[in-house]
Amino acid sequence: MSAVALTVNGKAVTGDVEPRTLLVQFLREQLRLTGTHVGCDTSQCGACVVHVDGKAVKSCTTFAWQVQGANITTIEGLAEPNGPLHPMQEAFRENHALQCGYCTPGMIMAAADLLQRNPNPSDEEIRHGLEGNLCRCTGYHNIVEAVKAAAANGVSA
Ligand code: FES
Ligand code: FES
Repeated sequence: MSAVALTVNGKAVTGDVEPRTLLVQFLREQLRLTGTHVGCDTSQCGACVVHVDGKAVKSCTTFAWQVQGANITTIEGLAEPNGPLHPMQEAFRENHALQCGYCTPGMIMAAADLLQRNPNPSDEEIRHGLEGNLCRCTGYHNIVEAVKAAAANGVSA
């Protein structure tokens, strides 16, 4: 076991991890931040996406020790504490961009990162930008609509 210290959703946290402990395990099992999901074990589904130092990362393929000192944001920390939904969350809600919701946290974190890098993406760029995130319910159309709506509202963070 070794100690890790990092910032998660604005709070300094520490923990003891094994070399093989994945970031998603650390978040879910030690910090009880269960909004970050696990949908596969092959780095394909994107349900586990969080932001590491502002960039979307699949937390199922990142070891906890690799993010020593990093600033992590999970779906629980995307909106301001006790504030309204983050505009990307609101865009998903308004555009019916979710059904079962399993993919949604990762999809929203990936979409937020996409708009940080490209504030006005085309449909094709949105589909390409989210190709690492799988949704088994929605058919993707409304997800693209939600990201477009968020972009139109100037969401870029
Ligand atoms: S759980 Fe990480 S990509 Fe599927
Ligand atoms: S809403 Fe069910 S997997 Fe995307």
